[in-house]
Amino acid sequence: MTRPPVAPADAVRFTVRVGKAEHAVEIGAGHLGRLAQLLDAAGVTGRRFIVSSPTVWRFHGNDVSGVTADQPILVPDGERFKNLLTIGRIYEALIKAGADRASTIVALGGGVMGDMAGFAAATYLRGIGLVQVPTTLLAQVDSAIGGKVGVNHVAGKNLIGAFHQPRAVVVDPTVLATLPRREFRAGLYEVIKYGVIADEELFNRTATELPRLFARDPEALVPIIERSCRIKAAVVEQDEREAGPRRALNFGHTVGHALEAVTKYRRFRHGEAVAYGMLVAADLAVRRETFSEEGRSSLAALITAMGPLPPIGDLDVTEIIEATKRDKKMMEGRLHFVLPAKIGATTIATDVTKEELARSLGALALR
Ligand SMILES: NC(=O)c1ccc[n+]([C@@H]2O[C@H](COP(=O)([O-])OP(=O)(O)OC[C@H]3O[C@@H](n4cnc5c(N)ncnc54)[C@H](O)[C@@H]3O)[C@@H](O)[C@H]2O)c1
Ligand SMILES: [Zn+2]
Repeated sequence: MTRPPVAPADAVRFTVRVGKAEHAVEIGAGHLGRLAQLLDAAGVTGRRFIVSSPTVWRFHGNDVSGVTADQPILVPDGERFKNLLTIGRIYEALIKAGADRASTIVALGGGVMGDMAGFAAATYLRGIGLVQVPTTLLAQVDSAIGGKVGVNHVAGKNLIGAFHQPRAVVVDPTVLATLPRREFRAGLYEVIKYGVIADEELFNRTATELPRLFARDPEALVPIIERSCRIKAAVVEQDEREAGPRRALNFGHTVGHALEAVTKYRRFRHGEAVAYGMLVAADLAVRRETFSEEGRSSLAALITAMGPLPPIGDLDVTEIIEATKRDKKMMEGRLHFVLPAKIGATTIATDVTKEELARSLGALALR
């Protein structure tokens, strides 16, 4: 389907600056059909290689037909394919097609595809151009921004990677119409996270717009994607390598990662585990009297309104606590726990005890 090149009135554009480099984030309904013009405008010249998955290509390949004369490079995009073997397949396709230093990879897909295609772009010929065209809500509000790219190793998630900023990020909310509801919800928990850490308005808007968001109404989606991207971008601009402020993005993630690990990454979508993690952090902060009961209950009400999370009643509190200690984000042997201070602000606690954590985990009715 060809769309008019004119951007809709509610399209949004802003610039992200990291170090000396800068790039635009373009958000607008129908942007996939305008991708060629947007890339021309962004100065993305040279050959363009779309890297995508058969699933995403089947749904949305037609929309990007004018972007390149080269064949798309299609590789599987499940988490279990996010490894160096798949990266090898991308390299081979690039070599075979004669991709050179002036070429650009256009990553079209979810967070797995963005991370893999981005890693290929960071390393092929010691680094070529990258454009992120995220197609899941999680990728649109989180993984496409920030320049982290990489793959998993059998020893752990995202152990192999690089920082490689894209030349542009192009977000089209209409692609979310084909996203399974569970994937959509998983991304929305990260939006709630941004609301709690930085933006009460975003939090309230998400709560009131929930039905329109679930209907994938682009008019409702554009502002929440924009706010989320701007928060992530602002944090990355201050702190590309995660020394200070980037840590707030980890709200809900200490326990979230532990829940994913103890269930061997099979039970939860990442966002679902983060939803539990946010509830635990909120409970901990309320018990410390550094967060209000009202705040906790509005967070719990919003998470509940989004539908049931996978069950956790069978999980063991001690095992989860052990898993939090293995978190990559430990600094000098101490767990840095991001706690909500109010809806819209957080604090970091470095003195959370095992007992406190056990009590708040127990509040979720775990064993
Ligand atoms: N780089 C970062 O900063 C960063 C941040 C957060 C997460 N991540 C990574 O992101 C990954 C998770 O990404 P995800 O949640 O997007 O999952 P995903 O990439 O696995 O996508 C989920 C599923 O949705 C399908 N899909 C994608 N777009 C679709 C669409 N428009 N319509 C229908 N189906 C579609 C995919 O084929 C896949 O099966 C993890 O590997 C995680 O490590 C990276
Ligand atoms: Zn996350």
